Amino acid sequence: MGQGVRLDKFLADAGRGTRSEVKKFIQKGLVQVDGAAVKRPEQKVIPGENVVTLQGEPVGALPEFEYYLLHKPAGYVSAAEDERERTVMELVPSRRKGLFPVGRLDKDTEGLLLITNDGALAHQLLSPGKHVEKTYEALVSGRVTEEDAEAMARGVDIGEKRPTLPARLEILEILPEGLSGETDGDSGRGSSGAVSRIRLTICEGKFHQVKRMMEAVGKKVLYLKRISMGRLALPEDLPRGACRALTEEELGRLRQSRR
Ligand code: URA
Repeated sequence: MGQGVRLDKFLADAGRGTRSEVKKFIQKGLVQVDGAAVKRPEQKVIPGENVVTLQGEPVGALPEFEYYLLHKPAGYVSAAEDERERTVMELVPSRRKGLFPVGRLDKDTEGLLLITNDGALAHQLLSPGKHVEKTYEALVSGRVTEEDAEAMARGVDIGEKRPTLPARLEILEILPEGLSGETDGDSGRGSSGAVSRIRLTICEGKFHQVKRMMEAVGKKVLYLKRISMGRLALPEDLPRGACRALTEEELGRLRQSRR
């Protein structure tokens, strides 16, 4: 009697809706178990043994973990839930319970964000001791110099107990005033002076870390985009706002991400 899982839980875990949504499907007679309609949400089914269908379509047990790669646009918060703001979860093509973003990108930051329900992998990628590298491209106010790059390589004071760990700063381009078209209107771009396009690779994940590191050398981040995490790069063909499942090959690379 006690064997198996409740039918409503089975359907909800399989991503077919929330617990109360799937209960309604069951009560409406839309769910069959081994060919017979079942109207009791508490009925037990054995995954892999009983054949469950919803409106005639088989519902399989899902793989334990799901992994998605999101090209986060600005305007979304990196949280599983939020009462006031749009969250990145709205862009994920799965309603699977337990999915969460791996680490946070600020609301105005764009770029690579991993979404999964695999807590162990998230821990491996985020744990301070693992030093997984994250690379960002940014537009910053002013002229970034080789001295700034040297400061980043040594570590800078961002008001924490210790300076930041050594980071790699590459200066990609110095744009004269007025040529930094990538930011949008209210980005806070200063009204005078040059803008620099840089790439910064860090192996920590402190709150607002890139912005605070650039502030430590007197520059303001105007636009920020994460382009890689560990050995996984943001694919060039994934448009802003798009989200897709990771391929096996990408997942393999991510698992090998260590410094
Ligand atoms: N550093 C920041 O300052 N913001 C982010 O969103 C990510 C890294």
